[in-house]
Amino acid sequence: MALRNIVVEGDEILRKTCREVGEVTDRIRETLDDMVDTMHEAMGVGLAAPQIGIMRRMFVAEPEPGGKIYYFVNPEITYREGSVEGEEGCLSVPGYFGIVDRPEKITIKGLDRDGNHQEYTFEGFEARVMCHEYDHLDGILYKDKAKEMFDESQVGYEE
Ligand code: NI
Repeated sequence: MALRNIVVEGDEILRKTCREVGEVTDRIRETLDDMVDTMHEAMGVGLAAPQIGIMRRMFVAEPEPGGKIYYFVNPEITYREGSVEGEEGCLSVPGYFGIVDRPEKITIKGLDRDGNHQEYTFEGFEARVMCHEYDHLDGILYKDKAKEMFDESQVGYEE
């Protein structure tokens, strides 16, 4: 396992559409593990493959620090319900956060780290995290959807 460099806004890699993963191989697992290490090091709640320069449809998420780690390969959001606004930040957009509308509830399916099919329903903050990471796979950053953006220094935001 190893730490990877996080790509920051301005790099066109973050604006491309990622390709599907053909099979969850050992190499894919190694990348997923590196993504978890990198997410932990950066104290993030999620990280998508393009954020480490890999144009594949996969992301990891740990909505509750120290809680369950979710691995999604070739994810698909199959259901969205409601809309709620909340704060978001992104490891690829350091120093800022913004207010974004996201579904209150989603159902998302995909392959896990072992290549097995999984389906989850998430609400609230967990749904927000999954939608944010999913967007990265299509080259979308949260600031594209934000109603307002703030510089951390403007409000003394600490997190
Ligand atoms: Ni992000």
